[in-house]
Amino acid sequence: MRKLLAAALVCGVLPAYGWGPEGHNLVTRIAVAELTPAAQAKVREILGPDQTLVSISSWADQVRRQRANTGPWHYIDIPIDQPHMDMARDCPKDDCVVAQIAIQRALMVNPSATAEQRKEALMFVVHFVGDMHQPLHCSDNKDKGGNDVHVVLFDRPGNLHSTWDSGLLSRMGKEDDLFPAMLKEAQKRRKKWSKGSVADWAEESHKAAQKTVYGKLPPEPKGTPEPLGAAYEAAADPVIRVQIEKAGDRLARVLNDTLK
Ligand code: ADE
Ligand code: ZN
Ligand code: ZN
Repeated sequence: MRKLLAAALVCGVLPAYGWGPEGHNLVTRIAVAELTPAAQAKVREILGPDQTLVSISSWADQVRRQRANTGPWHYIDIPIDQPHMDMARDCPKDDCVVAQIAIQRALMVNPSATAEQRKEALMFVVHFVGDMHQPLHCSDNKDKGGNDVHVVLFDRPGNLHSTWDSGLLSRMGKEDDLFPAMLKEAQKRRKKWSKGSVADWAEESHKAAQKTVYGKLPPEPKGTPEPLGAAYEAAADPVIRVQIEKAGDRLARVLNDTLK
């Protein structure tokens, strides 16, 4: 098993789950800086003394294997050739990130829920608001959100989805080096960016996938890996930066509105 995992890591064929921990940590660190005192107190009450919003921000990915039913909760497959999201088409049985943010958000403050249910609901919300800002978590080109598209990013083989989850971001710098400027920008734009609904945010993420993730892909015959280089990186990096900043502002809004 260890050998298999090692081989999978080398070949870059592990299923891609969402922003990597670096992305989720950045989103959550921005949100934490914008929480009201009331929301901070409620978070402490729900999580207990040993965990923080940042420490639990990737928990939903860690349990994804054991809880197979939660797999589709991390994304919504809005077809890349469609102009808008359609919940009846794209979110059957509420098994998508947009529906689950609403469901888990309500559960987080449901007085009939157990303390453990409320805690898990909070951990899901923190993670899913981050995930939905990764454009490929709101898009599909009949390729499992880019998981089936082989790419080579600066000589490293992988797939388009994992490249957007973590490959490009890790090349942008270390979390602690990226955080101060991202927080500053998020705070500057907070009023504008924290507006809208979860559905609006999903459509915006989908548009970023149309325009940049797929729109800037170098034209290559299907079946051969797409080589991604400096031009693609230059188009992608500002999108990743802004999506993480927006996700931070919006996670703060969701938590501040819910945990009063
Ligand atoms: N599996 C199928 N579609 C997906 C998507 N958009 N993101 C992540 N995993 C997926
Ligand atoms: Zn995820
Ligand atoms: Zn992902």
